[in-house]
Amino acid sequence: MQAEYQQRREQLMSKIGNGTAIFRSAPTAVMHNDVEYAFRQDSDFYYLTGFNEPQAVAILAPSHSEHRFVLFVQPKDREKEVWSGYRCGVEAAKEVYGASVAYPIAELEEKLPQYLEKADRIYYHLGRDRTFNDTILNHWQRLMRTYPKRGTGPIAIEDTGPILHSMRLMKSQAELELMRKAAEIAVEAHNHAMKFTQPGRYEYEVQAEIEHIFRLRGALGPAYPSIVASGVNSCILHYIENDRQMQDKELLLIDAGCAYGYYNSDITRTFPVGGKFTPEQKRLYEIVLEAQKQAIAQVQPGNPYKQIHDTAVRVLTEGLVELGILKGEIDKLIEEEKYKPYYMHRTGHWLGLDVHDVGVYQHGDDNPQILQPGQVLTVEPGLYIVPDTKLAEDQPETDPRWVGIGIRIEDDVLVTSTGHEVLTAGVPKEVAEVER
Ligand code: GLY
Ligand code: MN
Ligand code: MN
Repeated sequence: MQAEYQQRREQLMSKIGNGTAIFRSAPTAVMHNDVEYAFRQDSDFYYLTGFNEPQAVAILAPSHSEHRFVLFVQPKDREKEVWSGYRCGVEAAKEVYGASVAYPIAELEEKLPQYLEKADRIYYHLGRDRTFNDTILNHWQRLMRTYPKRGTGPIAIEDTGPILHSMRLMKSQAELELMRKAAEIAVEAHNHAMKFTQPGRYEYEVQAEIEHIFRLRGALGPAYPSIVASGVNSCILHYIENDRQMQDKELLLIDAGCAYGYYNSDITRTFPVGGKFTPEQKRLYEIVLEAQKQAIAQVQPGNPYKQIHDTAVRVLTEGLVELGILKGEIDKLIEEEKYKPYYMHRTGHWLGLDVHDVGVYQHGDDNPQILQPGQVLTVEPGLYIVPDTKLAEDQPETDPRWVGIGIRIEDDVLVTSTGHEVLTAGVPKEVAEVER
């Protein structure tokens, strides 16, 4: 794997010319008082180094004569390591992670200028930590003050995102292997959850079964807070309380995925708690399923990314008209976004090291992002007949029999050279399969 990190660094350096790129590890975050959340490395930092500790800075300096890749890390410290775990240390940072040179993080201020003064540009993403941003800006300011004397130095700061994130958007074989594993574990968890669910059980019991399988199979844990939403809770997109007792005749919407080797899966299934859909639930479900299938069919190399969402919106709007929930001419309803009270989110997102992964969805208004082999995305249409939905004047009152039903179906899809592969196809979604 080190060879691949190196290859990524080389690829990035080939794109930044004489610039110097600076990457900072993720901060540690306090949960409460002096208890911290489990550390999760910053995805850009991890993508380029595989290095998994806080308090680190990576520098790529193709313009430096000797040191193209520099790591600043926490030094070994026996006492601190007893409390908060193993540290790689300065020596091993060089040997194991392939840095040209490594320094203790405390030397960053002193060592940084030598990597900037010959660069024509600084590549840096302004992060949430304003203090660290200031550190970089102060160095830049100093270099600019002395620029006339040298005639060299960075005359601009450029965000690393556009270059690096277009690389991260295209998954390598090694990345796909981890994503397949993340998908496989989440598939097993969803299949088990479907069997385990029955009237009288609590949403958190289902959550526990799912997350048990995540850890049991070696995943780091949930990719995001698991959503186990029964009955009317299924109309809340990010419902995470998961504390309700499930009843017969209700639906259960489960949106859960895991992180494996830092790569994520993201699956949603909706199915009847008691094993059988009511006629209303079934009709809405069939519309969402059809929207999802048609949207997935649009995942083909060469297709604009946007076509996936547009396809889903059309099928959902047609379905809402068929049920009498919306009234009017389809094209007009779509243009005026009359479906939005029932379908308020997009049909998916890139998936990878981040659940909502990096990469652009369009290059300006008239320049669509075109799907290419190696991209991974979710396809997740839904319908949510939210109680008390405020409708447009020209729309009918929603018949109460639909109200409180929320449905989403979500799969993870890889764009291949010939079409697509659904990485999460192992969880059933046909009506006959989700009924028991
Ligand atoms: N669970 C987050 C998402 O589906 O985007
Ligand atoms: Mn998703
Ligand atoms: Mn999801």
